Amino acid sequence: MQIVVDDVSKHFGGTIALQNVSFVVRSGSIHGLVGENGAGKSTLGRLIGGILQPSGGRVIYDGVGATASSPREAIDRGIAVVQQELVLCQELTVADNVYLGRERATLGFLRDSANLRNFDELRDQFGFHLDGRAIVASLSIADQQQVEILKALSRNARLIVLDEPTSSLTPTEIERLHAVVKRLAKDRGTTFIYVSHFIDHILTICDTLTILRNGTHVQTGPTDDQSAESLVSAMLGRELSDIYPPKKPPSAASAVKLSTHGLTRKPAFEDINIHVKAGEIVGIAGLVGSGRTEVLRCIFGADASQRGALAIDGSPVGRHSPIMAIHHGLAMVPESRRTQGLFLDHSIAENIALVNFGELRPFGFINRTKEGEKIRKWADSLNMKCPSTEALVSSLSGGNQQKVLFAKWLAANPSIVLLDEPTRGVDIGAKSEIYNLVAGLAERGIAVLIVSSELEELVGLCHRIYIMREGRLIGERSLDEIEIGEILHASLGVSESRSNSNG
Ligand SMILES: Nc1ncnc2c1ncn2[C@@H]1O[C@H](COP(=O)(O)OP(=O)(O)OP(=O)(O)O)[C@@H](O)[C@H]1O
Ligand SMILES: [Mg+2]
Repeated sequence: MQIVVDDVSKHFGGTIALQNVSFVVRSGSIHGLVGENGAGKSTLGRLIGGILQPSGGRVIYDGVGATASSPREAIDRGIAVVQQELVLCQELTVADNVYLGRERATLGFLRDSANLRNFDELRDQFGFHLDGRAIVASLSIADQQQVEILKALSRNARLIVLDEPTSSLTPTEIERLHAVVKRLAKDRGTTFIYVSHFIDHILTICDTLTILRNGTHVQTGPTDDQSAESLVSAMLGRELSDIYPPKKPPSAASAVKLSTHGLTRKPAFEDINIHVKAGEIVGIAGLVGSGRTEVLRCIFGADASQRGALAIDGSPVGRHSPIMAIHHGLAMVPESRRTQGLFLDHSIAENIALVNFGELRPFGFINRTKEGEKIRKWADSLNMKCPSTEALVSSLSGGNQQKVLFAKWLAANPSIVLLDEPTRGVDIGAKSEIYNLVAGLAERGIAVLIVSSELEELVGLCHRIYIMREGRLIGERSLDEIEIGEILHASLGVSESRSNSNG
């Protein structure tokens, strides 16, 4: 399906999300859409999918018609949108979600078994591994993302918009998805609009690229004309020389802020011994599912340990809750903003203020001015793109929501910060801002423990890296030993000369 974006504008109140954008998506093309957080990528995807209506201009599908006036109409015309923030029905099964709204008019039981049969066929065809009977709420984010993708594929769509489809997938799952996309484009002529912040994915899978900046169209052209550097500078409108700040590890005499001894919570992880010093940035590398997030949750008190001990500033901490952890100076930026981190229907300011009861609310009432100043300061330091800190979090772009989550915890003035996938969905300019911020925290003596699936990020930022595999700690690398290929091999369990050096 050929798409012509014809002079499209979209305003939200005073915010201009898109301004006179025009370009063509060729039929059967895998067309990348790149730009900073808030550049208008998701807005454009939603306009094409009939989820939003343009303020000006139109979208032309295969030379006919105007912009789809509703998602229903778009679906009928063969357009499917996999949104950045997943919108599945949490309490329904996987199969029911995939076929939602298209049930045949039969009694419940028959419908269920038909859905399941269709689902199994579809899943096997694309080589995904999901149980059609599982309740969506029980799935990891990665699996939920696959459900969304299967839903689009099940509609035999001729145009599929994938908005950040790989942000929660493992390298193998990403490869599988990319293979599916390529196959559909080649064999069935399906057209894809692919939005991603992963520059290397964009460069490998897309044949054509459109760059947006601040709601305007910068350029559209063949991927072959671009390199990672040219793409980044076109996106940002400036060169980005080095996205990682210089490493300044703490002195050997620096005190241990956080340590665990034999920490165990089966089956997620077992016998974890780690420590983080004041001023140190420590990473935990490993694949999705290796138990890294669970270790952070346990340290923060969100889950209880079965065995082992946790010490803060050298003193043992017994069974504790997240509230107690916050009083001990811990902060945790969780993995999923939609389900764990943010109140989407509240303002930026309210979200940031929520954890900051102690300092900002001396006598139980809100100190508006002081609070406002502080919140503004965090919004500015993260370069948040928002009309004001009173804006609802739901109105922000995905990456800017991530920044609110970050600001919310950092504003609490913690002495130990736990970060789980801190830059997921964040553009490369903002990433570099977050890296500088993390380095700044460490320079102020804060201990930082980071889990990230982007190995490059851990390698670029950390002073020391632990490696986990299948719930166990299998190695540790100091600053001069940190090497990306070797750590990847170790976390995959592929034997290489130096993996397992630390038992
Ligand atoms: N429903 C809405 N109400 C108000 N403003 C909105 C709404 N949706 C988007 N915006 C604004 O429009 C602009 C573009 O947002 P959009 O979500 O399209 O960005 P994006 O390029 O997808 O960014 P990201 O990479 O962070 O996902 C942003 O400034 C955003 O705050
Ligand atoms: Mg977006």
